[in-house]
Amino acid sequence: MDKIKWLVLAAGEGKRMKSSIPKVFHKVAGIPILFRILNIAEKLNIETGVVFGKNIEIAKEFVKDKNIEIFEQKERLGTAHAVMCASEFYSDLEGYTLITPGDTPLIEQKDIEEFIKFTIERKAEASILAFYTENPKGYGRVFEIDGEFFNIIEEKDANEEERKNNLVNSGIYLFKNSLLSKHLKDISNNNAQNEYYLTDLPSILKHKGYSIAVFKTENEENFYGVNDRKQLAIADIIAVNRNIEKHLNSGVTIYQPDTVRIEDNVEIGKDTEIYPGVIIETGSKIGENCTLKSGCVIINSEIAENTDILEYSHIEGAKIGANCAIGPFARLRPGTITSENIKIGNFVETKKAILGKGVKASHLSYLGDCEIGENTNIGAGTITCNYDGEKKHKTVIGKNCFIGSDTQLVAPVKIGDFSYIGAGSTITNDVPECSLALSRVKQKVIQGWPEKKGKKCRN
Ligand code: UD1
Ligand code: CA
Repeated sequence: MDKIKWLVLAAGEGKRMKSSIPKVFHKVAGIPILFRILNIAEKLNIETGVVFGKNIEIAKEFVKDKNIEIFEQKERLGTAHAVMCASEFYSDLEGYTLITPGDTPLIEQKDIEEFIKFTIERKAEASILAFYTENPKGYGRVFEIDGEFFNIIEEKDANEEERKNNLVNSGIYLFKNSLLSKHLKDISNNNAQNEYYLTDLPSILKHKGYSIAVFKTENEENFYGVNDRKQLAIADIIAVNRNIEKHLNSGVTIYQPDTVRIEDNVEIGKDTEIYPGVIIETGSKIGENCTLKSGCVIINSEIAENTDILEYSHIEGAKIGANCAIGPFARLRPGTITSENIKIGNFVETKKAILGKGVKASHLSYLGDCEIGENTNIGAGTITCNYDGEKKHKTVIGKNCFIGSDTQLVAPVKIGDFSYIGAGSTITNDVPECSLALSRVKQKVIQGWPEKKGKKCRN
């Protein structure tokens, strides 16, 4: 098979987005539109180039981890001009170049595979991926005569009759490299937008006698183009719904799925139950048999099996062990790592907190920059005072400790194993193991004080 390279056009200004960042950096289901395309190229192991426009430095930074060639289109003169700006990319005259827009986030790997296979089987010298749609608005219309490709007419150049044509251009093509090198320059900008349209190349080639094939599909959803925020929102809904369907099919229970958001690259084990209003962002991993109750937000976190996250908990950058119960209303911030069988209750906030097996912090606490040993109980209202106004300090609590309610642990501080802290204490010094520490002002009682002050004590 001839060698195929993939060129992505992403130099458009994306004016209709009314954004200060390039259109292809906007996300669909948590992944930038452009990366959704590059990820397919990576899976298919196709050498890829991207044409960027304005803000080339920002673009270079954005794709610095991607193995791609970058080209610059300094002026936005149209899709054909964008391809010309990458002429080095297809200078090897032997192969084909797959050209796709950068703004079609819903393409799937199989679309590209089928299109390539179709083109090669037909031995076509160029081919167009076209799809049927009830609503052709905005797309170039594809025309055939006697079953043979004839031309593509852009919406703005089409008359009323032509606009009714519902076979449209996906913006995805394969061209023999030699034809790109030789005939792109034959395209003029004599059209409604005064742009060099790549859509003119297939008909130019046709008239020169080259074989042009049209791959037609009914699956219009996959070629949905994002030009404005409304289309971005629609593409996102479609992508999220695909994820939901995938998880439903793999044994996850999702109640009222229309209210649930699951982004791309999320793993969920079977028999996990997800309640209405849950959001799981990209990169999260949830084990089998977990329960995520309503309103939970899970960002870039791992949750092991049999763990329940109760209502309205916010979990970010955390790693939670098996058989835990978190929430309701818990906030686990980055660097929270828990062992199994722990309990974090309502209004507890953790950050860079390492919790051993069986730790319980059931109510109203702040646990930051700390390590807590197994089976320790943290009483309501415990606070690790980790910040002295300049630096963060660490609190280390041993195993099997009992930290009384309303304790402040002023870090850096260590509490030894099997120790107790009396409720209401402010602990500023280390506590050795197997001890009781308390720091309370002795209670004073002044009997009859209210009466002396002229206040009533009886009815
Ligand atoms: C384009 C096609 C249209 C097709 C539709 C499919 C043309 C002239 N029209 O229209 O037939 O139905 O895509 O979604 O090709 N770009 C550049 N440089 C430019 C102009 C555009 O790199 O000078 C890039 C854009 O970033 C975008 C892609 O090319 O990724 C398509 O451009 P866009 O302006 O979105 O074209 P459409 O109007 O959608
Ligand atoms: Ca477009």
